Amino acid sequence: MSLPRFKLVTGATGCVGAHVVDELLRRGHRVRATTRSIAKGEEMRRTRPTAADRLEFVLVGNFAAGCFDEAARGVDGIFHCAAPVATTFENPEQDAIIPAIEGVKAVLSAATQEPDRTPIWVDVRDLAYAHVEALFKPEAGGRRFLVSAPEKFSHQLVADITRREFDWARDIVRMGEEGKPLPPSFKYDGETAGRFFGIEYRSFRECIIDAMRQFREISQRESGE
Ligand SMILES: NC(=O)c1ccc[n+]([C@@H]2O[C@H](COP(=O)([O-])OP(=O)(O)OC[C@H]3O[C@@H](n4cnc5c(N)ncnc54)[C@H](OP(=O)(O)O)[C@@H]3O)[C@@H](O)[C@H]2O)c1
Repeated sequence: MSLPRFKLVTGATGCVGAHVVDELLRRGHRVRATTRSIAKGEEMRRTRPTAADRLEFVLVGNFAAGCFDEAARGVDGIFHCAAPVATTFENPEQDAIIPAIEGVKAVLSAATQEPDRTPIWVDVRDLAYAHVEALFKPEAGGRRFLVSAPEKFSHQLVADITRREFDWARDIVRMGEEGKPLPPSFKYDGETAGRFFGIEYRSFRECIIDAMRQFREISQRESGE
């Protein structure tokens, strides 16, 4: 019996990509992942020992025509999560926009190599669950979704939650202006995606608690505590 085909995840070592990989592995899929650094790929496989036999990495270069052709051969689903991401870009057009467009062109071209496959496009957002659901819901094809939890947040709220929930954080995280109301701002409406994909958006509090726990574990591991 032949093995099921791979799902391809580009940018798999990144924040969104790694979560997409984990969501696919959690559902039992085989994942082919791209990276420009095989060391990062090896580290991801090392830290997922129970699923390492279903996760393989393919080395790719910077975005350019044909860069995903080899990786996409024989796959039956593609999640494009690779993108140049930074807090600031010296030349945003040159360093972020043009490479991102090259990446999308390359992935669409790689996807159409497979004659019986239709590439499905989803707006890349922070919920790996929605990415994976989008592949398995044919009605999602050709549509765009905004995946966003309904709560607003601020850095002050991060500090408040962290200090409230973790004793160790009180000496490290500055109090700031505890309890300061959130400033007025726009918000994204992720309700349609929530309903369509059946997403239970995690609360901001839960998100911060989980992240801080993980940061703490990493810092303790690295300092040998
Ligand atoms: N994280 C979020 O909360 C969030 C929220 C909303 C939207 N997004 C969007 O989701 C996408 C991914 O974000 P992210 O946070 O996962 O970013 P990230 O952590 O920086 O990961 C992006 C990955 O893309 C690859 N990459 C970067 N530049 C590349 C290039 N020039 N050529 C080929 N590969 C390249 C890198 O992988 P290698 O170094 O291994 O090749 C990197 O790990 C972006 O479009 C971002 O705007 C993210």
